[in-house]
Amino acid sequence: MGKSCFPKCRLGRIMGWLQIVLGGLVIIISISSLSRFYSAGFFLRDEDICRHFYGSKLVYEGIDVVALTARVEEVLNKMETLQDKLESTVQRMEKNKEALHKSNISKLEYKKFLEDEVIRPLYSAHIAIRQIRLPRIDKNENATLKEDPLINTFVVEEIRKYITPKENRVGKINIYGTDKIYSTIGHACVLMKKELEEYMDYDVGSYCKDDWNSGQKLMIHGCDPLPRRRCLTRASKLYLKPYPINESLWRMPEGRNVRWSNYQCRNFECLSSKNPKRGYSKCTGCFEMEKEKLKWVSNTSLPIDLLIKDVLSIKPGEIRIGLDFGVGTGTFAARMREQNVTIVSTALNLGAPFNEMIALRGLIPLYVTLNQRLPFFDNTMDLIHTTGFMDGWIDLQLLDFILFDWDRILRPGGLLWIDQFFCKRKDLDDYMYMFLQFRYRKHRWAIAPKSKDEVFLSALLEKPPRS
Ligand SMILES: *[C@@H]1O[C@H](CO)[C@@H](O)[C@H](O)[C@H]1NC(C)=O
Ligand SMILES: *[C@@H]1O[C@H](CO)[C@@H](O)[C@H](O)[C@H]1NC(C)=O
Ligand SMILES: *[C@@H]1O[C@H](CO)[C@@H](O)[C@H](O)[C@H]1NC(C)=O
Ligand SMILES: *[C@@H]1O[C@H](CO)[C@@H](O)[C@H](O)[C@H]1NC(C)=O
Ligand SMILES: *[C@@H]1O[C@H](CO)[C@@H](O)[C@H](O)[C@H]1NC(C)=O
Repeated sequence: MGKSCFPKCRLGRIMGWLQIVLGGLVIIISISSLSRFYSAGFFLRDEDICRHFYGSKLVYEGIDVVALTARVEEVLNKMETLQDKLESTVQRMEKNKEALHKSNISKLEYKKFLEDEVIRPLYSAHIAIRQIRLPRIDKNENATLKEDPLINTFVVEEIRKYITPKENRVGKINIYGTDKIYSTIGHACVLMKKELEEYMDYDVGSYCKDDWNSGQKLMIHGCDPLPRRRCLTRASKLYLKPYPINESLWRMPEGRNVRWSNYQCRNFECLSSKNPKRGYSKCTGCFEMEKEKLKWVSNTSLPIDLLIKDVLSIKPGEIRIGLDFGVGTGTFAARMREQNVTIVSTALNLGAPFNEMIALRGLIPLYVTLNQRLPFFDNTMDLIHTTGFMDGWIDLQLLDFILFDWDRILRPGGLLWIDQFFCKRKDLDDYMYMFLQFRYRKHRWAIAPKSKDEVFLSALLEKPPRS
């Protein structure tokens, strides 16, 4: 027993293992080919087969054939690579039979080989094949094949879990009148597959990476809404309680309450407009309270600017809630709060912690991009104020989508305050048409030169009643 037979037995065992593994491969490959046939339409009705072969319709009957094929293709490639590798290994062993007898492959090496070269690829292929979600026949909808949208586009499990509709537990219709809850992502997520998969690759329940920046990048590129994250967001270790509201509105917040790692600056002082390395370019004086305190309450050098008191006096007591759409640190909302008006301020963290600043001042930041339909219902807002964000760079059709959305949420009699909008003089007619197309009542409409070929526009418009 034992020593003399040792290498031989080992070889025999290796060969035995390889045979089992190869056998497994064959089975898996057959299954995956089968599902390829399925996805290619062999199990569908005749006309579907024809359509598959003669037509170029790639998405039909609710099946994303392209994504499905890509997934199957991926598994097949993995299997093929593995099979080639195993076969060549066996051939090599066959050739070096003699050497094999003499030499010592340690058990550890053997284990490592199995683990790294066989089990791991096999496992990943196995997972990939399990991930392929074949369309189900939906009984309720007359035997059409139905696939969860984009389900076969993504491989990372957490995205797939997120986008899979969640059925109600008791099988009944829920309070929303649906039998499932659908979690959505922006279709542009498909274009940013790699970035999204990276962003969504985390252990459920653990601390998130400090990567809100990649999230924001995804949002700005249209992958919005983002799949919700089941990881614990990080916060500043040194978080101190915020200042009371009678102080917070006009006091620079405590820098330790912000996580600075994704900004060029490491504290609020550094964000001063005087610092050329502050890391952001829009609203450059916004982090200096002396400058902010003058806004909308004292006359500026631009005679067409409106003051808050002038605007509120047009509708005394009527303006209670509103939206400030732009880039800023919440100063407009702070001034309005002093007038007992609640303003929600949109903010993106473009190079500086705008959201954190607004919130630390005791105001409400709304983290939305330009491409989002605003999360307010029709005819709800008393006021929309906009400054410093949309100017001459904005595409006219995009502006149109935005303005129609504003019109939707503004109540009849509500005010649209366009504050220091600027554009090239030659573009003014186009923009004027944009703003005037809604036939709002003009309380104020003033144009002033900004530079040789640029102009400012300030306007206060009132939405008319509508039936
Ligand atoms: C082969 O393994 C034996 C024990 O299993 C060991 O004594 C011997 O030194 C090894 N030979 C070589 C060449 O590694
Ligand atoms: C399925 O569709 C046919 C017509 O295409 C219709 O007559 C039939 O009632 C439908 N069945 C169900 C269960 O909806
Ligand atoms: C703010 O209010 C608190 C009590 O609510 C008070 O103790 C504090 O002095 C006030 N601060 C200022 C600057 O008025
Ligand atoms: C702003 O200017 C107007 C006239 O141009 C003047 O009536 C008003 O008093 C000024 N307000 C302030 C706060 O200086
Ligand atoms: C805001 O409301 C408070 C409390 O109701 C009141 O004391 C204050 O005068 C109001 N301020 C304005 C500017 O209306």
